[in-house]
Amino acid sequence: MSEPVLQVDPALPREERYAALLKIAPSVLHDSPDWTACMATSVTLLATHLPEFFWIGFYRVIEPSLLAIGPYRGTLGCLTIPFSKGVCGKAAREGRTVLVPDVTKFEDHIACDDASKSEIVVPLYDREGHLIGVLDVDSERVEDFEDDDKEALEKFAGTMREALHRELSDDE
Ligand code: SME
Repeated sequence: MSEPVLQVDPALPREERYAALLKIAPSVLHDSPDWTACMATSVTLLATHLPEFFWIGFYRVIEPSLLAIGPYRGTLGCLTIPFSKGVCGKAAREGRTVLVPDVTKFEDHIACDDASKSEIVVPLYDREGHLIGVLDVDSERVEDFEDDDKEALEKFAGTMREALHRELSDDE
């Protein structure tokens, strides 16, 4: 089976690249055997469509209140993040997307890399509503994320959730 070749023009407006991402993602991620496979493939999908972001990756829930690094693209990420700390911890703790326009104004920001100037973290749920982890995207530009990014990345997280449950949805 051959995978589709990803060709995305980085000069297109981000909105159009999100549309292309959300169009192709269901078929690429469909029938993901587990979350690691789905996250690893998602990193490439996201990085191909959104090359302007220097860090794109996942943190996974490995204990009731602890995240550990998952598949990512970028400079070295912190290995673990407790739910009590950072933007990732806040998104996991509160179960909602956290958008930070300027990381210097977010007291609890964990600077894995000083290049990060703005950040968005989206929680990931399985179909039963359990928190699996978070998607973290970092930019070298201040105020690089808006509501459109939040909406598109939350839709992407929904596509990941659906992609992992083919057997369940086929039985329904
Ligand atoms: N800045 C994040 C930590 C993860 S890195 O950005 C890869 C945070 O405050 O949770």
